[in-house]
Amino acid sequence: MQKDLFEFETKLAEYLGVKHAIGVADGTMALLLSLRSIGLNQGDEVIVPSHTFVASAAAIHHAGAIPVLADCGTDHLIDPVSIENKITKRTKVIMPVQLNGRTAKMDEIEKIAHDNNLVIIEDSCQALGSKYKGKYAGTFGKAGTFSFFPAKTLGCFGDGGAVVTDSDDVANNVRLLRDHGRDENGEVVTWGYNARLDNLQAAILKFKLSFYDEEISIRRELAQRYDKNLRDIAQITLPPVPDDSDHFDIFQNYEIEAEQRDDLREYLRKNGVGTIMQWGGKTIHQFEKLDLVSESLEYTHKMTSRFLMLPLHTALRHSEVDYICSKIREFYR
Ligand SMILES: Cc1ncc(COP(=O)(O)O)c(C=O)c1O
Repeated sequence: MQKDLFEFETKLAEYLGVKHAIGVADGTMALLLSLRSIGLNQGDEVIVPSHTFVASAAAIHHAGAIPVLADCGTDHLIDPVSIENKITKRTKVIMPVQLNGRTAKMDEIEKIAHDNNLVIIEDSCQALGSKYKGKYAGTFGKAGTFSFFPAKTLGCFGDGGAVVTDSDDVANNVRLLRDHGRDENGEVVTWGYNARLDNLQAAILKFKLSFYDEEISIRRELAQRYDKNLRDIAQITLPPVPDDSDHFDIFQNYEIEAEQRDDLREYLRKNGVGTIMQWGGKTIHQFEKLDLVSESLEYTHKMTSRFLMLPLHTALRHSEVDYICSKIREFYR
């Protein structure tokens, strides 16, 4: 934890307009330390969407709480109606996941949290720079979390993550927890973890953050082009359009829904186009060994036989997007 780390933390906090940004080992640790920093009790429940990386639920589990899975909507983000249906006397936290670089309708979620006295911890690991009604993902709740895994929009050369918060208490707790429970004098004051963001990774992140917004513009242009080229194909459902006024989407991923998904995927593969099914094609409730309750997840369940990510990265050319779209059109024809 040297100069580059502290400089990166300052720059990240400035970028998001928050009081504290604390670099940690990875996004999973960012979630775990955020949850631990608010003091959950054994058996407390945390509502999280099933359509997320298993890390969101694992962090809840390792914090001693129970992940309660909520459904998603057509935008693939946690459905506020489903959140309300999952609240019990033991619910303590709502963890919206700002998936694919898009921020959920946070005003609705904030209202639910307020009315039911619940804390919001955002899994904004996929959404640095994404906004809802002008406010950044990660800045709505008690704490927000980011992943800097290489495949993320801001990626370092290994694992990295951050917690952001306006709360001095949460920030102090996360700072202690990430470094073996040691305070600034080296005194161990609580049980902690080795969960520091490496100084070298922080130096890379600090450099890449300086041109991050330009990279987001490139991604948004590519998404716009997919939208324009594919909009009229009845067999596929596209993510919401990039120019939606409430949402500023950074398009970490371009996740569509497609009829005959597996055949389409194979057709694209044969034509040199790689695609990915997020989470290997299964959302959390479908990992049977985790033994989680999988009731009332109709949309998520249906979606997993249809979802597919098309290529989207800053080295992708517009002509390549056109080629991919022409192959999709050819397939359905
Ligand atoms: C939605 C979501 N949550 C949590 C994580 C965990 O981040 P990391 O891989 O840095 O631990 C990721 C990234 O992989 C993610 O996509």
